[in-house]
Amino acid sequence: MAGTFITLEGIDGCGKSTQIERLAEALKMSDAEVVWLREPGGTPISEKIRTLLLDPDNSEMCDECELLLYEASRAQLVREVIEPALARDATVICDRYFDSTYAYQHGGRGLQEQLVDTCNKLGSCGVVPSLTVVFDLDPTVALSRATTGGADRLEGEGLGFQQRIRAAYLHLAELEPKRVRVVDASGSPDEVFARFAMVLAEVAGVTIGGLGA
Ligand code: TYD
Repeated sequence: MAGTFITLEGIDGCGKSTQIERLAEALKMSDAEVVWLREPGGTPISEKIRTLLLDPDNSEMCDECELLLYEASRAQLVREVIEPALARDATVICDRYFDSTYAYQHGGRGLQEQLVDTCNKLGSCGVVPSLTVVFDLDPTVALSRATTGGADRLEGEGLGFQQRIRAAYLHLAELEPKRVRVVDASGSPDEVFARFAMVLAEVAGVTIGGLGA
């Protein structure tokens, strides 16, 4: 497929939403069409699934149900939005993708790695990002940031959960060093964006307004 597909990952409160906003803003300067997405969500069906997944009232949701709902939301997003956008040669940037499922449902929940990998292949319809950036931050700092305005169902799982997710992301970066890059997410948003821009330039050939060139 022609376009570039970049995904941003990290534990809750790592600051990736601020970074994707900055990336989207910077990419507007280029000629390429930019499609900015977040998971779960991004289509009417996927947004309905998102509501189910994040609702703290759904405390009885079992791990298998959770895994399959994330995959269902993703499959719809891939078929309805991501594949057509990449075929049009757009740059697709997505706040979370299948590496979140690896980190949260395998690392966090403890579902078997091979099972999660297989489900990820189905849910992504085989569409793999060109570059994935993991924003790495101390889970104690990140969780207190994330839950300032109240915790959703996943954030309510606590510190140990976030620590296991972080370990899974770092493991993934070791398994797939070409695609998955770790960026230190400590410091100011400007400092983090400068590090992010370096990786974008180096791995995806995306140069942003004087940064990272
Ligand atoms: P969201 O409010 O979008 O969190 P964030 O701003 O941190 O991305 O909520 C998404 C939550 O869903 C977040 O806690 C991570 C979790 N998640 C999974 O557990 N598995 C997945 O496959 C995805 C995409 C997200």
